[in-house]
Amino acid sequence: MIILGIESSCDDTSAAVIRDGVLLSNVTASQAVHEAYGGVVPELASRAHQQNIVPVVDQALKKAGVEREELSAIAFTRGPGLMGSLLVGVSFAKGLAASLDIPMIEVNHLQGHVLAHFVREEGDGHTPPPFPFLCLLVSGGNSQIILVRAYNDMEIIGKTIDDAAGEAIDKCSKVMGMGYPGGPIIDRLARQGNPKAFQFARPQIPDYDYSFSGLKTSFLYNLREWVAVDPDFIEKNKADLAASLEYTIVDILMKKLRKAAKDLRIKHVAVAGGVSANTGLREAFHDHARRFGWTVYIPKFGYTTDNAAMIAMTGCFKYKDRDFCSMDKPAYSRVEI
Ligand code: KG4
Repeated sequence: MIILGIESSCDDTSAAVIRDGVLLSNVTASQAVHEAYGGVVPELASRAHQQNIVPVVDQALKKAGVEREELSAIAFTRGPGLMGSLLVGVSFAKGLAASLDIPMIEVNHLQGHVLAHFVREEGDGHTPPPFPFLCLLVSGGNSQIILVRAYNDMEIIGKTIDDAAGEAIDKCSKVMGMGYPGGPIIDRLARQGNPKAFQFARPQIPDYDYSFSGLKTSFLYNLREWVAVDPDFIEKNKADLAASLEYTIVDILMKKLRKAAKDLRIKHVAVAGGVSANTGLREAFHDHARRFGWTVYIPKFGYTTDNAAMIAMTGCFKYKDRDFCSMDKPAYSRVEI
């Protein structure tokens, strides 16, 4: 079984090849063009995907040492994501599958992020989480707690009612005049700051749901007041601001996750999505493993942001169940797991 995975939901064009469950290649072209705009510009993203998709797929096949004709199926991200970006990957997958006369496998991008924990490389001694497990999916577009009963049986038990955690970090970074994306910048600065230096609003939301818009607004309003008094406030306090922001967000995320793990009596807990690259969040997971006896699953950095390895991996699961899709499937921009 050789599966080619294709991912193009946002601003990363990625292709990966998995043979019998083992990853052979994972090639990603990121798009620096958006940095100047402080966020992803959909029109530019789809154009860049058009330029990147052929060379990226070509490279992934070459790196894997696999000929097109050897492929068993093509797994592609059908959604959610930016429509113009998705259309490039979906159309390419259809064209290639038709020309090779092989089946297509549609993949939900969010399901892919969760199943990134099953990506195995040759000789890496990797142990995937056993079912059922909990997965905190945190990215620029999502903040969800997912109960994963099986590869194809996932339930969102908590989600943000407004902004995603990554979105809040990116926006706070922007109001401080930092670059885009803000996550890695805040992460770097936070390592040198005091996490208890400043306090920001915390949401009072029932159950396992999240909210980050109040925190973002409180960060902005506080900052405005402080800068009005001292125009150099941000420059003087950027490390403490970053550390306090990161601390608050991680604390909010872990509190609900802790509650879910306790209520459901689940001790296998994973984290996925772009924000899972965050040092403070990773430390919090290790800390919870020590304090609450959790077994935690933290993805390699390469599988935190968007990548095709997780799409190909989901494709492997679905291939075994002969869960193929027809050529008339359109991309979808919004959908739940
Ligand atoms: O999953 P992802 O690559 O894209 C989607 O949103 O689908 O996640 C991107 C998000 C951005 O908000 C980015 O700022 C955040 O992940 N991020 C981080 C870090 N690296 C990326 N947030 C905190 N700390 C990081 N080290």
